[in-house]
Amino acid sequence: MTKIPKFYVTTPIYYVTAAPHLGSLYSTVIADVIARWHTMSGEKVFFLTGTDEHGQKVAQAAAQAGKDPQEFVDKLSEAYKKAWHTFDLEYSGFIRTTDEHHKKGVYEWIARAQKKGDIYKSRYEGWYCVPDETFVADKDAVPGDKAPLCPTCNRETIPLSEENYFFKLSAYQDKLLKFYKDNPNFITPKERLNEVISFVQSGLKDLSISRTTVKWNFPFPGDPEHYVYVWVDALMNYATAVGFGDKAKQQEFDYWWPADVHLMGKEIVKFHAIYWPAFLMSADLALPKKLLVHGWITVDGKKMSKSLNNVVDPYLLAERYGVEPVKYYLLRQLPINQDGDFSFHGLENQINADLVGGLGNLLNRMVALAEKNNIQTIAAPDIWSAQAQALYDESCATVKEYQQHFADYWFHLALGRLFKLVNQTNAYFHSQEPWKLATSDPARFNEVLSATCHSLRTIALLLWPIMPNKMESLLGSIGIHFDLAKGPWSGIDLISWNATFTLTKIPSLFAKIEPQRPQESKTSEISQEQAPENTIDIETFAKLELVVGTVQQAEIIEKSDKLLKLQVDFGPRGQRTVFAGIKKWYQPSDLIGKQAVFVFNLKPRAIMGQVSQGMILTAQDSQGIPHIVIPASPVPNGTKLR
Ligand code: MSP
Repeated sequence: MTKIPKFYVTTPIYYVTAAPHLGSLYSTVIADVIARWHTMSGEKVFFLTGTDEHGQKVAQAAAQAGKDPQEFVDKLSEAYKKAWHTFDLEYSGFIRTTDEHHKKGVYEWIARAQKKGDIYKSRYEGWYCVPDETFVADKDAVPGDKAPLCPTCNRETIPLSEENYFFKLSAYQDKLLKFYKDNPNFITPKERLNEVISFVQSGLKDLSISRTTVKWNFPFPGDPEHYVYVWVDALMNYATAVGFGDKAKQQEFDYWWPADVHLMGKEIVKFHAIYWPAFLMSADLALPKKLLVHGWITVDGKKMSKSLNNVVDPYLLAERYGVEPVKYYLLRQLPINQDGDFSFHGLENQINADLVGGLGNLLNRMVALAEKNNIQTIAAPDIWSAQAQALYDESCATVKEYQQHFADYWFHLALGRLFKLVNQTNAYFHSQEPWKLATSDPARFNEVLSATCHSLRTIALLLWPIMPNKMESLLGSIGIHFDLAKGPWSGIDLISWNATFTLTKIPSLFAKIEPQRPQESKTSEISQEQAPENTIDIETFAKLELVVGTVQQAEIIEKSDKLLKLQVDFGPRGQRTVFAGIKKWYQPSDLIGKQAVFVFNLKPRAIMGQVSQGMILTAQDSQGIPHIVIPASPVPNGTKLR
């Protein structure tokens, strides 16, 4: 019996400080596509994702929200699961670092490293970057005004002086360098490996692996004053999720380990390429086969992140454009090794050009023409004409090149090649003028339909890992029931053009996107601003009470697609209920604990049988997306704007 090859792919585990955004979605979409590709190729796949729930950053976020950390992480972890379900990302395992079985694995690693003599106690005196949860050595720190800045995120570090347990990272310097030399393909893209090698060559210091001041983690075994450092706990997830630390799961672990691909954004390569292999060496465990590193989604050149308040909400995109077109755009638009700017305009153009105008239109035209001529079943001709043969050659070349690009993880190149085939098929269809052949030459008419169907079958199968539902519909409309139980590639040999197709008309696969227009043009805004009748005197302004409050609670109003119900604390001015029409763009967890500005003396309004006592202020951007207005630094609740 032949053994089915296995494939184990992981995403980073996400900090549960806020709800997922488009940047977090990006990592998970890539992993899902890789997992589906390997499943489709006949491998047994494990796709792991999860949430990183410990450490100072998460503890601080919980405290700011006024929540118990466990309650806080329980809620946000669910928000991640929900987002991945919305986008049809079919993970096989979802690990939470607060899981009990994970703790066992972390302790098992500490026990092994201790046995090796790799752990000792000493004092850490230096800098710490809370957003990145990382110790910053003096030699790497960037000079700053009050304290040095973190070299990765450029934010201010804090001074730290603690007695800690240390891991003898320095003892692994030569072993790591040898490993990189023996495994030149360990990191994709390759340039990243060179950066890692220079970092290691410049000298590794031992790594602090416990904290005494941050208690939101597992206690260090045998020394309850100390708590495990969050990156030790986080990296171990890849092993504990498939059974490490649980004797009953040894076989499972031996089957899946080592991971075939760890996927991650570029800012966390150091942890995965240096600490993680050293931890594994210390515990005598095999090293992962590959680190696949992607760039950042940026907005106006800056990383999309909660802290910069420039995030795009995946739910907004799903609702406006559909889940699968968004996934397509992410892979088609962003070369994996580079940062790529997100824009609504770019997304809309890509969907309209490739999916609506290219692929969807080709299917519609072909099926409509067949229907008009009462043709449902199309058999392959015995002999193909030169033009059809040329399309066949293009189709075979596309399969080959696409597979190679996928093996190299160059998704944007794979999709670029595939949409060249879409255009070539469209051009072939059009140039044959099949609407004339229908009556003048039925055999040629049949050939044009058959060649187009064969090409569409190739396109749909290759696109399946990215847009599974749409592609199953496309295949259904040419009479193919997609089913992986039939074997790799649903039992279809893409190189053989000998199939009979049965056509059924289906609703358009992709809807044309009407570009979102700014509500007013800039010129009209300016002229209105300058119009004398649009000015107010200071007394009129003084009548308006704009007050800062903290959102204590935020609830989804099930019956409304717009409204969130907020409980807002205005300090000495009391608590109020405010309804806000921002449900499409904000999750309750995005708001809880945040300060915002409210119109305080707005006449109370009855909304859904309750009373709204104020209005949250938002700045609407040119896409019509509201951004809540937040004071630049925290002020006491109840502070009035002047
Ligand atoms: N918890 C750590 C990872 C531990 S893995 C053992 C962490 N979490 S994170 O939530 O900050 O980031 C998780 C992933 O999301 C990273 O790969 C990061 O690069 C990715 N992204 C977050 N924002 C992003 C963009 N704007 N663009 C692309 N990906 C980005 O780091």
